[in-house]
Amino acid sequence: MMDAGRHQNLTLLAYSEVEHVTGYIGNFNVKIRKKARYVNEDECTACADCVESCPVSVPDEYQQGFSSRKAIYIQLPQAVPSAYLIDMDNCLGNNPIACGKCKDACEKECIDFDMQDEIIDIEVGAIIVAAGMDVYDPSEMDEFGYRSYENVITSMEFERLICAGGPTEGHFVRPTDYKLPKRISFIQCVGSRSSKNGNKYCSNICCMNTIKDTLLLKDHYPDVQSKVFYIDIRAFGKGFEDLFMRSKESGVQYIRGIPGDVWEDPKTKNLLLSVEDTTIGKVQVHESDLVVLSVGVEPRKDMKKLQHLLTLSNSVDGFLLESHPKLKPVDAPTRGIFYAGCVESPKDIKDSVTQASAAAARASIILNAGKVEIEAITAIIDTDKCNYCGVCARVCPYNAITAPDRKSGVYPTIIQAACAGCGTCASECVQDAITMRHFKDDQIIAQVDAILEENNMDKIVAFACNWCSYAGGDLAGTSRLQYPTNVRLIRTMCSGRVDEKFIIHAFKKGAPLVLLSGCHFADCHYISAVTWTQRRVERLWNKLERLGIRPERLQLEWISAAEGQKFAKVMRELEEMRKKVTDKEVKETMEILAKDEEKAKAKKAKQAAAG
Ligand code: FES
Repeated sequence: MMDAGRHQNLTLLAYSEVEHVTGYIGNFNVKIRKKARYVNEDECTACADCVESCPVSVPDEYQQGFSSRKAIYIQLPQAVPSAYLIDMDNCLGNNPIACGKCKDACEKECIDFDMQDEIIDIEVGAIIVAAGMDVYDPSEMDEFGYRSYENVITSMEFERLICAGGPTEGHFVRPTDYKLPKRISFIQCVGSRSSKNGNKYCSNICCMNTIKDTLLLKDHYPDVQSKVFYIDIRAFGKGFEDLFMRSKESGVQYIRGIPGDVWEDPKTKNLLLSVEDTTIGKVQVHESDLVVLSVGVEPRKDMKKLQHLLTLSNSVDGFLLESHPKLKPVDAPTRGIFYAGCVESPKDIKDSVTQASAAAARASIILNAGKVEIEAITAIIDTDKCNYCGVCARVCPYNAITAPDRKSGVYPTIIQAACAGCGTCASECVQDAITMRHFKDDQIIAQVDAILEENNMDKIVAFACNWCSYAGGDLAGTSRLQYPTNVRLIRTMCSGRVDEKFIIHAFKKGAPLVLLSGCHFADCHYISAVTWTQRRVERLWNKLERLGIRPERLQLEWISAAEGQKFAKVMRELEEMRKKVTDKEVKETMEILAKDEEKAKAKKAKQAAAG
């Protein structure tokens, strides 16, 4: 951090928050609120005279509440710049009667109670999101007694207690009697890998963190006995297995089983843990002086705000979704934005640094090139057909379409560099004023026609998005999974590109069954495009029902690239449904839709005649 602070090409805006981001790759405009510190950071030498004079004392968040801080303080010892700031929520204020003592104590006159937040506008070509993560709060897990017993602490609290810069200056003590605990139990996977409490995913870092903690304890206090209660130890990184072995060889006891209950002996304050050791199948009770809950990590609480700010999407676990897990693992779906660290998934320091280096390299490619090459799958607006409705701008997940203005005759425009090519705008435009390059309406309709040209009653028309469902079909094929051969796939980049008229056209041409398939909701590679797919299909189901056509003949399925099995299963189920659709039903559908089309044309003509 010190290096970053001194680097001539880096501008650090500490104690600041991004408020608004507009623009697109190469041309982002970022509005930043630089919060008032009430201390001139350029003048402050961190002499601490002000701290001594401050009468306010509040729990120190950085020290996990084990010690206190003043209302004028430095957030953490390594903070850059190393300058004080005033926590105005706790400060008694610049009222000479109430306080103002810090101002009197500061010889350099750095304190300015009238300082205001500053709004900074900057233009940048690329953005790297390295906003970090939050730590799971185990309060909700009653069985471990975190809120009931002082000697049950979290791994974050352990870090502060054993750290030389911590509240006890590295002298490890237990909270109730300030004595060195002789028996310490670590409980793994608290808030991770659980469908009951916390999160379902593995937090990735906790096993190695605990192994490191046990070795630290052995190093500082060889007589301390450590026990680790675990589901399984995941020591998968370089040198990690060696570290695990070292911990075991040093005498740390690893017990396979997570305690079901933790309770305290009221006299001794010792803790008792009941656990089934699953290696021997026996329930045991272990006594301990201190219990450390190895808590997992989770997405930041303000993740939704961050997503909204940068038009990003999240995966099912709540972390930010990358553009492609293998091909673009550090790229956000929005071009020009990259990820580093735990904002994308839980990861350790080494992986975070690796990802940060990759993100910096990816960003520098854009900045150095001065131009970007994009795939030619973007939308174009035909202004002759556009009626200024603005639906396209509203549905675009990337804000790549500028809103039209009917009064001043301004048509919507598509920022080509920002358009990712999902096709949602083209599908939602009722005027057919938007064309998707390479996925034009007539190209897709021609595929439907070709499928249904012969033996239409035997065919299943399936629209599949490129990233998930189509890849799921590929996986089913390469895995040699059996599924009916009469399913015909039409690939679109996103399910958002599947226009209502493609489906209606398929039924008009005699399709017995149509499938629309896309990514699972949180996995859509075009942020929120899949939500428009869902709405469109719901609209279509209603329309089919109104017309007297069985809505079940249009199926909607979410299939991921990894779900080859599901793809094959869905296709087999569809084939069973198709067999139940009769010739008569298909012919009736064709007639109904032909009549409906006639009606719509007549209505349009009447409207046109009426002006
Ligand atoms: Fe698959 Fe959007 S990319 S549904």
